[in-house]
Amino acid sequence: MNTAIIVAAGKGSRFGGSVPKQFLSLGDKPLILHTLEKFNLCELIGEIILVLAEDKIDHFASLGYESEKGLKLVAGGETRAESVFMGLKAVDSEAEIVVVHDGARPFVSVEEISETVKVAKKMGAACLVAPINETVKEVKEGKIVKTIDRVRLRRALTPQAFRFEILLRAFEGVKLDESITDECMLVERLGIEIFVVEGSQKNIKITTPEDWALAEAFLEEEKCSESGSVTIFTDLKRIKS
Ligand code: CTP
Ligand code: MG
Repeated sequence: MNTAIIVAAGKGSRFGGSVPKQFLSLGDKPLILHTLEKFNLCELIGEIILVLAEDKIDHFASLGYESEKGLKLVAGGETRAESVFMGLKAVDSEAEIVVVHDGARPFVSVEEISETVKVAKKMGAACLVAPINETVKEVKEGKIVKTIDRVRLRRALTPQAFRFEILLRAFEGVKLDESITDECMLVERLGIEIFVVEGSQKNIKITTPEDWALAEAFLEEEKCSESGSVTIFTDLKRIKS
């Protein structure tokens, strides 16, 4: 059995507003329900743990979302890493692979989840990544120091998946402050090899208000492909170009 920990206990300070971004309505439902639905649809996931701010647990429950996989609601911490750790403590002891995902990434695909789980099952640790399309510079005191060769660079996305015991070991005795921005950082410290899975540029993390327009466009595109009108959409794009 494989478990997903979805962390959604953040305040969304860069996004702003009075309602945390994960509870804003994207199309017909709150953003977090889009994310949950992807994990619900993934056959390789048997248990879902949703980490929420303690004062948002009742609000989430009032949304009436149900999953036949047995959704566990857990109170998170002050930092993302603390929230993951709270989720980790609730994982079923029988779990083989634990997959960690940002609640703020609703456009993860079911295939990305499956592939990451499969690689972790075979190799022990897997991380979804995407290439960097811009030229990257190192900057010091307002001036460019050098250009970094981007060919070997990747952006770390989520999901990131690990054998349960590896992830538990990675969190042992670690100060879970803001500097811990993903799970791979901790697993790297153990000297364990982490295999990459190429992810999609669509798997964005909704971070600032600018991301919202993109999210709405991606949602529209998802709806088009579900309803089978993707051909028309592609044709339109071709006509435009
Ligand atoms: N997260 C969490 N617990 C925290 C902080 C973050 O569960 N204490 C979650 C967020 O809800 C989000 C994911 O981790 O789904 C990635 O974090 P980020 O995009 O940074 O979201 P926020 O921390 O909410 O935003 P900000 O940093 O702008 O405040
Ligand atoms: Mg944050």
